[in-house]
Order: sequence, then C-alpha cells, then structure tokens
Amino acid sequence: MQISFSAPALPDAGTLVVFATDPFTLTAQAQIADKAAGGALSRAAKVNRFNGKAGESITLFFPDGLDVERLILIGLGAADKLDRSVLEAAGAGITKQLLSSGATKVTVLADKLSDNLDEADHAVALGAGLLLRSYRFDKYRTKEPESKKPTLKNASIGTSAHAEAKKRFAREEAVISGVFLTRDLISEPANIIHPESFADLITGLQSDGLEITVLGEKEMSELGMGALLGVGQGSTRESKLAIMRWNGGGKDDKPLAFVGKGVTFDTGGISLKPAAGMEQMKWDMGGAGIVVGLMKALASRKAKINAVGVVGLVENMPSGSAQRPGDIVTSMSGQTIEVLNTDAEGRLVLADALWYTQKTFSPKLMVDLATLTGAIIVSLGHEYAGYFTDKEDLSDQLYSAGKASGDKVWRMPVSDAYDKLIDCDIADMKNIGGKGAGSITAAQFLKRFTNGVPWAHIDVAGMVWSEKEGALFDKGATGFGVRLLDRFISGSYESD
Ligand code: BES
Ligand code: MN
Ligand code: ZN
Repeated sequence: MQISFSAPALPDAGTLVVFATDPFTLTAQAQIADKAAGGALSRAAKVNRFNGKAGESITLFFPDGLDVERLILIGLGAADKLDRSVLEAAGAGITKQLLSSGATKVTVLADKLSDNLDEADHAVALGAGLLLRSYRFDKYRTKEPESKKPTLKNASIGTSAHAEAKKRFAREEAVISGVFLTRDLISEPANIIHPESFADLITGLQSDGLEITVLGEKEMSELGMGALLGVGQGSTRESKLAIMRWNGGGKDDKPLAFVGKGVTFDTGGISLKPAAGMEQMKWDMGGAGIVVGLMKALASRKAKINAVGVVGLVENMPSGSAQRPGDIVTSMSGQTIEVLNTDAEGRLVLADALWYTQKTFSPKLMVDLATLTGAIIVSLGHEYAGYFTDKEDLSDQLYSAGKASGDKVWRMPVSDAYDKLIDCDIADMKNIGGKGAGSITAAQFLKRFTNGVPWAHIDVAGMVWSEKEGALFDKGATGFGVRLLDRFISGSYESD
C-alpha cells in the first residue's frame, strides 16, 4: 500500500476518514467535513451512541455535500491519553475496515491532538498503523475469489506538517519493510524455509547493502560447534550459521550484536513433541526471523551504527542419525553439555552462536532472540516478551524501547541460585533444569556462553505468532521484535 502526505483538504473521490475524541468532540478536520455534509456526521454520531471511544467507528455512504463514497468517523478515546500506539491502532483500524472493502483510496485528515506528539508525529503514527495492518501472506491461496482480494492501494494523510511527516515516514517505511520480511519468514512452512533455503535467502540480502557470510557444517565443525551441530545431525538439511553485517557507524566502533534462534522446524527430536500443535514449530525460527528483519530495517534506513546479526539455522528432527538423550556434546567454548532432553535444543544452538559472536566480533553487547521456552507463555502469555539481563542499563534501555515501540517486554530474573540448577554430575552442565523456572534456567544456560560480554536474552515464544488478530496485525506472524530493537538501537546507541 502506498502512503502519502499532503495538506489537509476534503477529497473529491474515494473514502474520507476523520476523528473524534471522548467525550464526544469532533476534531477540527472532522468539523470541516461535518459542516460540508450538513451536520450529517454529528447527527449520525448522536443516533448511534458514538462517544469517540477508541475503536468506535461509524460509516456514512455518499453523504450529501461531499464528493466521497464513504465518510468514516473514528474514535480515538480521551485526548489526554492519546499517544503513538493509539494513533497506530486507529490507522490500522482503517486498513482493517477498508482493505478488501472495494475502496481503493482513502484520505485521512489528521489534527494535532496531543501535547506529547508534534503534528507530523500524529500523521506518521497513523501512516505506520495503516501500513502495518495491510500485510497479507496469501501466496499459497490460489483460489481466493476476486471479491475477497484486497482493493485498498492508496492512503493519503492530510496534515499541515506534510513535508516533515513525509521525511519521517521514510524511516518508518524502511523499518516496516523489515517487519514484513520477518512476517514472511515466520509464515513460510518448514518445507520451504529450512536451513539451506533460509541461508540462501539471507545471502540475497547482499543487495540491500548487508555483508553476508554463511558457514556450513564443515566450517562449524572445524570451529568446534558441537552443540549446534548436534541439534541438526538428525536432519537431511545441512545446518548453517548465517552472519549479516551492517556497517553504518564509525570504522572502529564495536558492533552491536543480535543473535537469533533459527530452528526451522522443532519436532523435539528423539524427545519427540506430541502431534497436536506440532505444526506451530515452523515458527521456531522466529528469533532468527526477527534478527534478519532487523538487519534489513537497519540497512534500509541506513542506520548510523555498526551491527552484526548471527542466526543459527538447524532443523531438529528424529532419525537414525539424530542425537540421543544422554549424549554429551562439546561446545565451541570448550564447555561440555549433557543433552538430557533433545527438545531443549534452542539453547544448544544459541550456545555456539553466542560464543562465536563474542569471539569473532568483540561486540559492545549481545542481544539474543529466541522462541526458547513454552514456560515463558505460562508466565507472560502473549502480552509481553520476557527478557533477561544482569546489566541494569541494558535492562532500562530495552524496557523503554518496548514501551516506545509497542513491542512490550517484561524483565525476568537471573541469579546464581538459578544457575546452579543446570549443574551436572558428568558434564559441565545439562541442557534442562528442574521442574520450575523453565524460562530462567534456559536463560542461565545461555549466560554461560556470553563470556562476560554485556548480554540480554529475549524469549519471544509467546509473541512471534498470534492465534487472534491484534491491533497492528492479522492472525499469524506478528513481526514482533523488529520495531523493539530498531528503537533500542536508535534510542540508546545511534548518534543522529
Ligand atoms: N521451541 C520450543 C519452545 C516453544 C514451545 C516455543 C511452545 C513456542 C511454543 C523449545 O525448543 C522447547 O521445546 N522447549 C521445551 C524445553 C523443555 C524440554 C525443557 C519446552 O518449553 O517445553
Ligand atoms: Mn524444542
Ligand atoms: Zn525449539
């Protein structure tokens, strides 16, 4: 969908959207539209108990006095509670209503309503919401009737700050191109995205300006990555480690590193998962999907930062060559691991990916992303991702980036007492803890492979896929994480 910005004016065709706040107050632009329509909008609001609450909307068709096919009034809630996320949700609501409605063009008239945002920000947030909600993954639907296909192609946002909004939106659009890539990767089934095809796809991002390196099993085994390789050894697909570099910062600036779990399908291995719901494990590469989307976003917006993305790509299959419960593997760090459960595989992949990353790039910090544990869904459901770090500044930066971006994160603990739970009698550690604190013992496991480099782990198991639609996404892949990390970078590490 094409989003453009221009001076506010009543359109002479298409659909017009204006806003109201609660208690019922038409914005200045809405009053202009209402007046042109002979008061039809305010009268319609009255008979329809429309108060201007967030999410409320009424639609008039062919209102007298205006040259539009639809006039839509949308509630934004209380003016003093208005922020970016309310406006993004409102923009997304417009797309949801119109995407396949037959409407092809919508004009949205924005006003400055909140003191916390300038006028351009209001328009940019609406535009971001409009665009984010336009995503569809329908490449495998070959029989969709014409009448169900998307029609909405253009959204024009009317704002007196149109020049500034246009400039700021270019950055927004670049980041959203990363969000859409993440959604694509997560939506693809595991017969299409497997370690080899995923690595090829990442290699293709060279054309976006990223430097790409891919390691295969031979190189990884020379590096001693026994933990990662053990997970992939039951698969017919070759395990890969893909490295993406974006060099937009100073020549000698240490990079920020983002490390992703890319288990392209997680059957559990010999510790096989139950059949019901196993298809969901196609998105067990969600952490890697976020890292790849983030790197694309950074390249697209030409971020002034050095960043490296590292993703461990493996398929966890049960087979005659698969790793067995009780196997002991030696990781690249030299530490040995007793694999008591082959379904606790993500941490094994990340152990070598993290060690490789700190050793190869001496990064300023490492943030890893992984659909690591079902237990994080028990803790936090689908509202917040759980994050773990023992660095207070890193914690604060992630928390604020979560609030600002709308990709919310909640801190979970790390401590020596939890670390002890993965001590092992016959190796340096075991890959599962006891009964409780499953997400935390998984994080403690990862911490043992960070070599003291400032590190945070984000368990996104509850966030990358949604069974119901959200404010900014339809059901399916959410794209969670890209905007979070983009904000984390620009808010705390990028000089402008
Ligand atoms: N990929 C799963 C975690 C997961 C489960 C993500 C459900 C999303 C939804 C991970 O590899 C896994 O299987 N974890 C086990 C760990 C256990 C064996 C210690 C789990 O959470 O059950
Ligand atoms: Mn697993
Ligand atoms: Zn997994």
